[in-house]
Amino acid sequence: MQLKITTKENYRYHKLVKMNSHKLYYLFLSLLIIATSCSTNTTVKSGFIQENIQFAIAQEKLQVAQIEKSGKILNPRTVKDGEVKYIVPDDWTSGFYPGTMWYIYELTGDSTWRTYARKYTEAIDTIKYMTWHHDVGFMVQCSFGNGLRLGEEKYKEVILQSAKSLSTRFRPVAGIIQSWNVDKGWQSERGWECPVIIDNMMNLELLFNATKLSGDSSFYKIAVSHADKTMKNHYRPDYSCYHVVDYSLADGSIRNKHTAQGFAHESAWARGQAWGIYGFAMCYRETKDIQYLRQAQKAFEFVVNHKNFPSDFVPYWDFDTPKIPNEPRDASSAAILASALYELSTFENPEYYKGWADKIMQSLASPAFRAKTGENGNFILMHSVGSIPHGNEIDVPLNYADYYFLEALKRKRDLENMAKPTN
Ligand code: GLY
Repeated sequence: MQLKITTKENYRYHKLVKMNSHKLYYLFLSLLIIATSCSTNTTVKSGFIQENIQFAIAQEKLQVAQIEKSGKILNPRTVKDGEVKYIVPDDWTSGFYPGTMWYIYELTGDSTWRTYARKYTEAIDTIKYMTWHHDVGFMVQCSFGNGLRLGEEKYKEVILQSAKSLSTRFRPVAGIIQSWNVDKGWQSERGWECPVIIDNMMNLELLFNATKLSGDSSFYKIAVSHADKTMKNHYRPDYSCYHVVDYSLADGSIRNKHTAQGFAHESAWARGQAWGIYGFAMCYRETKDIQYLRQAQKAFEFVVNHKNFPSDFVPYWDFDTPKIPNEPRDASSAAILASALYELSTFENPEYYKGWADKIMQSLASPAFRAKTGENGNFILMHSVGSIPHGNEIDVPLNYADYYFLEALKRKRDLENMAKPTN
């Protein structure tokens, strides 16, 4: 039916249309401005993430191409004398390269990386039987643990076997997992009986996972006992931590509080401080015991309030080295810290912790710390330190710096995606 409009009505109609078209025009303009500003924010935010993903892909493509060309399955750790240094499966860092591939897969969704991740993960399968040092937690969680999280159900068996292997190192009298054996190597020369290092906090995630997968609470109990003892014995009143606490196997008493990789027994080794913050944040996630959250938060306050925490937020290798600022940085500790802070931001004070993590990431992704494509042995980050007291890996790339950088990037992306409105 045709609608008849009189002249008067016609006039009103056109006025209305004109008014509405003005309103519509302004509405359209406002929406455009909002949309543009939203998309600008998104571009700024995701621009950082996307640019770092693209860079990581470029480096990892070169890295894996070089390995594949050799016809072997190699596991890169660092660069020495201009050459990439590859490691055997029972080196403590063997989980990081496969883990890096899992993160690249997760960040890109490109199945090529999943295929590589599987291949390089499954190549270190034998570590599940490793009982001679504590690092099986790191090694398996970062490789198989990420694979399982991303759907590789068959890796459950590896997680469980590895948790059993790690549990053989639990010393019930002292209530801790022994980190290192003391029957050979440099560890045999320090007079220790049962050394536990702060790094060991990182191995507990494997145990929490094993309990979730199996329902066997013994793994969880070991993890909690170890975390409680570490919280009590590894920290000074200012919440800096010792690197090594040596326990008596006979009665569980403390024999020594030492360092191995720090500047001095009483100094704060930067990576150890970062391991502790990450480890206690993870323990809070797994147990919801508020003491662990407070421990992580206070240990982080030690970092931010320290006079030697540099203005670019990438710690010197030890907070108390006398020659600061003429001391090497440790980008690995900054990457671990950033990842831990993103996790902390999910519990309390999100702006504060995410803000710090973002600042650290900006710095790590700057030309001061991030390599150029095709340089740095095809690793992502420059300027990490393995162990200065051992004269090992000083101012070099390290596979774990890259691993935690990508983990942090992934956590940042997830947090920002969650913060975006869904409609
Ligand atoms: N877990 C050994 C290190 O941090 O160097």
